[in-house]
Amino acid sequence: MTLLEIIEKKKRKEKLTEEEIHFWIEEMVAGRTLDYQVSALLMAIVLNGMDLEETFYLTDAMLHSGETIDLSAIEGVKVDKHSTGGVGDKVTLILAPLLASFGLKVAKMSGRGLGHTGGTIDKLESIPGYQVELDRDAFVKQVNDIGVAVISQSGNLVPADKKLYALRDVTGTVDSIPLIASSIMSKKIASGSDFIFIDVKVGNGALMKNLEDAKALAHTMIDIGNRFGKKTVCILTNMSEPLGNAIGNAIEVEEAMDCLKGMGPEDVMELIIKIAGFIVSRVENIDLEEAEQQCFKKFNTGAAYQKFEEMVKSQGGDLEKLEVSKRIFSVRSAKAGYITAINTLGLGEIARKIGAGRLTKEDEIHYQVGLLLNHKVGDFIEVNEELVKVFLDNLDVRVNEILECFTIEAEPKEKEPLIYEIIE
Ligand code: URA
Repeated sequence: MTLLEIIEKKKRKEKLTEEEIHFWIEEMVAGRTLDYQVSALLMAIVLNGMDLEETFYLTDAMLHSGETIDLSAIEGVKVDKHSTGGVGDKVTLILAPLLASFGLKVAKMSGRGLGHTGGTIDKLESIPGYQVELDRDAFVKQVNDIGVAVISQSGNLVPADKKLYALRDVTGTVDSIPLIASSIMSKKIASGSDFIFIDVKVGNGALMKNLEDAKALAHTMIDIGNRFGKKTVCILTNMSEPLGNAIGNAIEVEEAMDCLKGMGPEDVMELIIKIAGFIVSRVENIDLEEAEQQCFKKFNTGAAYQKFEEMVKSQGGDLEKLEVSKRIFSVRSAKAGYITAINTLGLGEIARKIGAGRLTKEDEIHYQVGLLLNHKVGDFIEVNEELVKVFLDNLDVRVNEILECFTIEAEPKEKEPLIYEIIE
């Protein structure tokens, strides 16, 4: 068997066998494949798909490509949350400490930016000193001690995904249901939590552009979760505009800190309350409304923020040193009217281009750059009013590129819901 034969087979839209999929992953992790061949196979999968069985075999092969984490040394219910990725998605930074403030255990491994979407680990690394790598014992100890740790995927946890993720990011092979489902589920299952909650983003800033694809991705992940005996729940949420106002790294951490104090943008707060409320009501067996009320309390009493501070401190970060760039310019609206649409993918790409993300595997992140939106869909804006504040380092962006991401019309349009449905 050769990788070339497998590429040819997928090119002809044929179904790959369990043996072929395991061969590909094992050879790749052993360093016996060439990046251009793996990239070709990924592109064939993007174009020709994989069925549920192939997706399960791929997840299984990826899961067994490295070690799995045994969290049995952590007492209590272990909850894991993942997002399929969006623009301005800082939910983990808020949700993880919030859940920990309830006494739940959040042993979370997060990823870096992928394509135009930001990554929690890049955001956390914008906090000077924050260590995203902890060894297993330190990770388990921190979760036992304070209830929460957010670290990057350890070197040997699903190494197949590390390799594929980095290749997909730079070969236009991110947006594929089997590749996303296997990437997420292999990591979630390897990470050993009891309860897996996945935020499937839908819209022009998400990997899934429409509700139908998002539902298909959700059902694929739930099916895989079930095959591994893990309770998996998906929430479908809107990503046709950025989540919150901040896009970048340090700037998103700042916004997350506002949210943890109960003072964040409305959409982020609504989403957090919905997700945390659902998880808390399930785990603690209480009424949904009661759980949501308790979440508000955790913000108002400072308990959620305190958990965040404890986590950052425990991982070596210094919030006093968190900084956004001082090189700022304003993008002002060229006309008056209602914002009826935002090209979220476009804004994500602009953020990536000014250094908030990577264009090649070797690129370094500029943590202090980003965009701050003063207005979102549904808002009225005057001529010359500030639409976006841009925080730059040494890479520039054209004002028009940003303006073109906003559709401004005389009449407002009905706003889409933020939350579509929860599927389990
Ligand atoms: N998040 C992941 O971990 N993997 C993907 O492929 C997409 C989003």
